[in-house]
Amino acid sequence: MDAVAHNGVLAARKADGWEFMQAMRIAGGRPLSGRIEISGAKNAALPALAASLLTDGPVTLGRMPDVVDIRTMANLLASVGAEVEARPDSYSIRANGNLDPVAPYELVKTMRASSLVLGPLAARCGRARVSLPGGCAIGSRPIDMHLDGLKTLGATVRQDRGYVEAVAPKGGLVGGRIQFRRPTVTGTEDLLMAAVLANGESLLENAACEPEVVDLAELLTKMGARIEGAGTPTIRVDGVDALAGTEHAIIPDRIETGTYLVAGALAGGELTLEGTRRQHLEPVIAKMRQAGCLIEAPDDSTLVLRGTAALSSVDVTTREHPGFPTDMQAQFMALMTQAKGTSKVVETVFENRFMHVLELQRMGADITIGGHTAVVRGKAALTGTDVMASDLRASASLVLAGLAAKGETTVHRIYHLRRGYDRLAEKLAGVGASIELIDD
Ligand code: EPZ
Repeated sequence: MDAVAHNGVLAARKADGWEFMQAMRIAGGRPLSGRIEISGAKNAALPALAASLLTDGPVTLGRMPDVVDIRTMANLLASVGAEVEARPDSYSIRANGNLDPVAPYELVKTMRASSLVLGPLAARCGRARVSLPGGCAIGSRPIDMHLDGLKTLGATVRQDRGYVEAVAPKGGLVGGRIQFRRPTVTGTEDLLMAAVLANGESLLENAACEPEVVDLAELLTKMGARIEGAGTPTIRVDGVDALAGTEHAIIPDRIETGTYLVAGALAGGELTLEGTRRQHLEPVIAKMRQAGCLIEAPDDSTLVLRGTAALSSVDVTTREHPGFPTDMQAQFMALMTQAKGTSKVVETVFENRFMHVLELQRMGADITIGGHTAVVRGKAALTGTDVMASDLRASASLVLAGLAAKGETTVHRIYHLRRGYDRLAEKLAGVGASIELIDD
């Protein structure tokens, strides 16, 4: 165990070079070839960590990615009073003490997914006090559906001084019928975790169907929860009195996989991605094949991308799963800058997820934005320059564009990348990219 818990902050793992590096320099024009092992999915690991609050038994989570958001969530669990042990790629959590169900601002401000502890704490402790997450680069991202769902389960919810407080009835949360006005991934996860310990039956309607929701339901079921319909728009839960500890390996990261598929398509060469799940990425693979990418799936956990045939433009509209994922929009746009023709990219999930466009334009991309639609004209000659990262996936798209650009690209503020990509520079360098971390 290399975790040292002190003053409530978990110093999990050693600080690596990334902690202090602020920029990444990429020399374009080098083809990639070799194998990349896909890490566990950040967006499955976060709800899985929060779910460990639902029991006093030990929960061990495997295939955990080493990314900043996971460390932040682990620190949040420690600050609530859970025992957290971090190992090379697994976490063991035991929330069996008397928990202090408060998620403080200093942790929540760095990671909005902290709202995932609302449901578990309200269900387990009868109350939760969580700092309201601020907005972020890609949009205002309210959590009204999380709060309305808790009210439907009988909680009283009030806000004061930037915190939201949810208090369950004396006898605990009560099963209810939650109807989401639009699918919400963490909203579905938060309320699923609240419902599993509620008294009686709950229905979650218009629920999110993402693979990460299904993975959470599998973990909760292993802990003793009674859930039907995860992965479909209607999830039924029969509340139980208590849950037990368990062991669970989280699913691989479909967005990391898609990011490396685009890297290979932009740089050329041959990439083999191992330890992934093809069926979680069908919409992305279909669109990339439509654009002329040569992608094979020798088995369900391996994808092989072969050198770039000439790319042709395709239109894409982001949708909730099983549509084209919004988390792949920026990366796919970088690809479309190198495709012949005109591609329309429509972002329907978030209101401001085109922050990467200005930076891609500075590299020579021909993109015009009209509302939620970006029109990409290719094939544009990209040249390396200094660019600024703004959010996790926008940063990734700039690194990818750097692989295809002529000359050197320096991506500044890469701490955004560190929040969601496990060893991105190392993995790309391992297949031949010229990429280095520099102090900014
Ligand atoms: C999850 O965010 C992911 N994060 C995001 O990944 C992903 O982009 C997003 O789902 C969509 O797939 C995690 O899973 C930790 P939503 P989440 O609630 O749950 C609105 C990444 O790059 N909304 O599905 O916060 C919201 O503003 C990150 O890894 C409300 O209005 O997204 C958005 O427009 C970025 N009220 C839409 O719904 C609410 O109460 C979908 O958001 C909740 C959401």
